[in-house]
Amino acid sequence: MGTAVDPTARFLETQAPGALDHDESVEITEIMNVARKLGLAGNIAELEAFGYTVVPAEKVAPDAFQQRLRQAVLDVHERRSGHRIVDTEVDETGGAGPLSSHWSLLREDRVFEELVQHPVVSTLAQYLCGKSVLLSDITALVKNRDERPTFSLHIDQFGTPPPLPTYAPMCNVTWVLTDYTLDAGTSAIVPGSHRFGRAPREYEQDFLAESPAVRAVPIEAAAGSVIVWGGNTWHGAYPRNRPGVRVSVNAIFCRSYMRQIRDFRLEAECPSEVLTRNPPEFAQLLGISHAYPCRAGEAAEPEARLRFKRSGMNPWA
Ligand SMILES: [Fe+2]
Repeated sequence: MGTAVDPTARFLETQAPGALDHDESVEITEIMNVARKLGLAGNIAELEAFGYTVVPAEKVAPDAFQQRLRQAVLDVHERRSGHRIVDTEVDETGGAGPLSSHWSLLREDRVFEELVQHPVVSTLAQYLCGKSVLLSDITALVKNRDERPTFSLHIDQFGTPPPLPTYAPMCNVTWVLTDYTLDAGTSAIVPGSHRFGRAPREYEQDFLAESPAVRAVPIEAAAGSVIVWGGNTWHGAYPRNRPGVRVSVNAIFCRSYMRQIRDFRLEAECPSEVLTRNPPEFAQLLGISHAYPCRAGEAAEPEARLRFKRSGMNPWA
């Protein structure tokens, strides 16, 4: 019997010096190392297996941050709708319809800057959309007691024909601000649907029908939890059947080659002082220094753009 040869070691010996420096798994290895330290390895396994995961509140943030975030969303709701919500467990929304959606939250409160840089959020967004992931927008949803359905089954990855890519071109990170239960109007999810490679067809969308073509299940998540799914996962939402409101904030991320929902390079969307008080990685997350799209005659010099923007000058004026 000869000595057993480790095939992996043998393969590595055949590689030119430095070859592994260019291995495409380096990036994902770095992200996984961070994920393990944060206790998120199981959540990543769930993303792979089911297309979504719930990170429990105790792994995410202390209660004080949760309260700040929830109050910031309720303040935005009051400024934009005129309705003040003091107690999320009683009806006081003044017949605002089943759902209020608030877009473009970055400039509304500093807590939203912290939200998109939170390690749990940024690590899972990077896992799904790469280290060059971009913030697409931040939205909030306030759902009232109303028997009318809000979202039938859909994917968040709009505008992509089948077959969808096997990776996530974008992802949705939902920070749960009130308990998500069936009667509270939680999200509906179709586990494993990220492998279907297409959006639901019209006859598959009504998961609340008596005999639905596709079976969805409710996501149970306590306030403070973070729900993550990729852009290919089929999901919807149940109506709220109990008093009060369901409140959440959604950070939407996309890969670097995609168009963001929000153009954060505009001063009106992201004032210079917001960039100045955050680390350079934040500007990168917002695409401030992204090379594209160039304007006529403009050189693609990302660092120069960032420098201009952080100095308070506006190179796009
Ligand atoms: Fe959605």
